[in-house]
Amino acid sequence: MRTQVAIVGAGPAGLMLGRLLEQAGVDAVIIERRSPDYVLGRIRAGVLEQGTMDLLDAAGVGRRMHAEGLIHGGIELAFDGDRLNINFEKLIGKHVMVYGQTEVTRDLMDARRDSGTISIYQAEDVTIHDVDGATPRITYRKHGVTHALTCDVIAGCDGFHGVCRASVPEQAVTTFERVYPFGWLGVLVDRPPVADELIYAHHARGFALCSMRSSTRSRYYVQVPSNERVENWSDDRFWDELRTRLNPATAESLEAGPSIEKSIAPLRSFVAEPLRFGSLFLAGDAAHIVPPTGAKGLNLAMSDVKALAEALIERFVEGSAAGVDSYSTKVLQRIWKAERFSWWMTSLLHTFPETGRFGRRIQRAEFDYLAGSQSAQGSLAENYVGLP
Ligand code: APR
Ligand code: PHB
Repeated sequence: MRTQVAIVGAGPAGLMLGRLLEQAGVDAVIIERRSPDYVLGRIRAGVLEQGTMDLLDAAGVGRRMHAEGLIHGGIELAFDGDRLNINFEKLIGKHVMVYGQTEVTRDLMDARRDSGTISIYQAEDVTIHDVDGATPRITYRKHGVTHALTCDVIAGCDGFHGVCRASVPEQAVTTFERVYPFGWLGVLVDRPPVADELIYAHHARGFALCSMRSSTRSRYYVQVPSNERVENWSDDRFWDELRTRLNPATAESLEAGPSIEKSIAPLRSFVAEPLRFGSLFLAGDAAHIVPPTGAKGLNLAMSDVKALAEALIERFVEGSAAGVDSYSTKVLQRIWKAERFSWWMTSLLHTFPETGRFGRRIQRAEFDYLAGSQSAQGSLAENYVGLP
């Protein structure tokens, strides 16, 4: 088989790239190691920036988001029970949309299926070849048979643990990484959210987040040490810990219930540079990871693929290599700004075993500064809703 763009990975990045290329008449095949159901079973974050909403609309897959998503004009921060509303609408006249990444993936998957373009799921041993040479191609195994897909360009949209970045010779890539000494224990529950806005709470026992998927389904998180095991957390233990970390009035109105999903995600900041190696281009989690505190992971993946799609369309439709040549430099600027913001939100809101009492006083001062400064709040707001 032959295609112009071979996309590895059918997460939101790979699916969106496929969609944008298909709209422009550029031929692309997606190769994914898991099954569609497995991909849809992963519970991920769910806050969309305006740029992501616009991209879903431009891709013709925004209908359900507008019907079912929840528009949020702000967030609440809390520090040892003291509350601070950050009102995006008032500060900068913008908002975000709460709509689960799983739903974005489903909408893109449905559109791809309806378009009849080719996606190969459950592909084993996906291997990339000759990205520096004249015949880039991908081989994979399906039902015991090995297949080859030749192409002009490979798009590595295969997440942090994917094969694409791992195939690049070590000396060709520089990585920047910070692994935090904690993770987030998350619970999904069919109960109404505790508050209208998302609540990001700092507490001496650790960070907590109250989020939601709809008016009847909530998502809650508590910070736990990196070596914590989900088996140690009964639902009761989770709800007790969450209530302890919230302000008393919020804790009082929290509706607990049986968890329908419970898992621990590690927190990491990571960037690989550059994002292009010959005919291989990285996008999304394959290229970078942010801790989820700033809700940037999905949005960053979407802004990468928007830029990559434009560059590839320029190359295949207009015959100009300018876009592909500047892709890496261009998107890394935005990536590092989102890395900075996600690191900053993480630093403000979590407890860090190594920084001690001094560190907590600095965090408190940061919170008090935010509470008293419209410019500081404006800075948070413009980063949270998404930089241009
Ligand atoms: N071969 C084929 N597919 C692979 C391989 C491989 N060797 N390795 C991984 N994949 C697939 C995964 O199964 C997954 O479906 O690549 C896909 C990558 O999808 P995501 O991990 O969702 O990454 P991305 O599309 O970049 O989306 C970024 O996901 O993790 C969140 O916070 C992140 O919200 C952000 C978003
Ligand atoms: C979520 O709803 O899962 C969520 C929301 C906001 C975040 C992270 C996760 O910052």
